[in-house]
Amino acid sequence: MPPEIESERLRLRRWLPEDHAPFARICTDPEVMRHIGDGSVRTADEASRAIERFEEDWARRGFGLFAVEVKESGTFIGFTGLSAPEFLPEVLPAAEIGWRLARSSWGRGYASEAAGAALAFGTEDLGLTEIVSICQTANGASMRIMEKLGLAFDRRTTDPTCGRQVEVYRLPKSAAP
Ligand SMILES: CC(C)(COP(=O)(O)OP(=O)(O)OC[C@H]1O[C@@H](n2cnc3c(N)ncnc32)[C@H](O)[C@@H]1OP(=O)(O)O)[C@@H](O)C(=O)NCCC(=O)NCCS
Repeated sequence: MPPEIESERLRLRRWLPEDHAPFARICTDPEVMRHIGDGSVRTADEASRAIERFEEDWARRGFGLFAVEVKESGTFIGFTGLSAPEFLPEVLPAAEIGWRLARSSWGRGYASEAAGAALAFGTEDLGLTEIVSICQTANGASMRIMEKLGLAFDRRTTDPTCGRQVEVYRLPKSAAP
């Protein structure tokens, strides 16, 4: 049973049935999806199937992507957490820390705050040491978050699933427990 964790303003929790509709709105927004895969949006059905896979990952691996909500309002705003970056075999074995938030919540430090809590969960509670983060070269906000989390540039390579260039950042050995 995955935990629920909290940061100052956010709750990171299991996925709920009521998350499907707002998560579909996130994944059908072209601005959100611009730097993900080939940049195409998902359908609402694809977004729902993704939530089912997130929950399966929690059961299979003991880690996964948390649904993120704002504590004060209870509003679901997206996800952060850990996954296995199987789309990029050259960085394996490793867990990948990632994030995707609704556009209406950008620019308030939420992604950095949520990812910081998820990273601490991975290193301190799970004892993970091999943690990477991967973003497309044009995704400046994500690269900034990786730096703020204390990850260090590892390599630039090509995502074989879409042919786009990506930056890989990695948790330095000195930062692991
Ligand atoms: C990436 C994303 C999660 C950022 O969310 P957010 O809550 O606005 O992020 P934060 O406010 O915590 O931090 C963003 C940082 O990047 C900076 N930033 C924003 N746009 C930037 C850009 N184009 N270039 C460089 N830095 C940028 C911000 O100033 C901030 O840094 P600061 O705290 O030093 O000022 C959000 O934009 C998103 O969901 N994007 C679409 C999904 C996505 O691309 N996910 C990642 C796939 S790898």
